[in-house]
Amino acid sequence: MNSDIQSIVLSEKQIAEKVEKAAKWLDAKFEGTQSVPLMISVLKGSVMFFCDLVRAMDTPVQIDFMTVSSYGSSSESSGMPRIVMDLAASVEGRDVVLVEDIVDSGNTLVKMRDLISGRGAKSFTVVTLFDKPSRRTVNVSADYSCFEIGNEFIVGYGLDYAQKYRNLPYVGILKREIYEK
Ligand code: IMP
Ligand code: MG
Repeated sequence: MNSDIQSIVLSEKQIAEKVEKAAKWLDAKFEGTQSVPLMISVLKGSVMFFCDLVRAMDTPVQIDFMTVSSYGSSSESSGMPRIVMDLAASVEGRDVVLVEDIVDSGNTLVKMRDLISGRGAKSFTVVTLFDKPSRRTVNVSADYSCFEIGNEFIVGYGLDYAQKYRNLPYVGILKREIYEK
């Protein structure tokens, strides 16, 4: 284990199980649907989860990416998510599935929801790997959440602190001394 990590929240094996369940939930949701859903990865944090999730699904999907930045390099969200890279595809009339790493304050999700609904998506579904409900400052929630956590800062499997730790294959709680120094 990386020495900056205090404890593991989800092991590789546990992540794989969560991914499998989320994929089954999406397959059931879109069963019998004629149109092809557009799966959107909110970069960079959701990239690992996204790649595993779309490969675990049986439903034929299209994929697209959007980069949203909410932090400088602190562990507190700025509350003002910024779109750094927009989608390539049009969402008009599409069944959109937004794939998030974590819903924290909810600001990013509200921004994405308003943007995608405003562009005329037919439906909007949110799947997140993690949910921190106790941290919410706006009234929004994911349609499917793999794992609920308290007020702890976690890294790995896409999640970062100051752009580090994204390539850890597991998710762990970052030692406080790392971000409080
Ligand atoms: P929100 O806009 O406050 O909901 O923040 C969402 C974004 O903050 C996520 O997509 C993550 O990139 C980041 N974030 C929130 N909590 C954590 C955490 O515990 N570890 C790493 N990134 C986090
Ligand atoms: Mg991040």
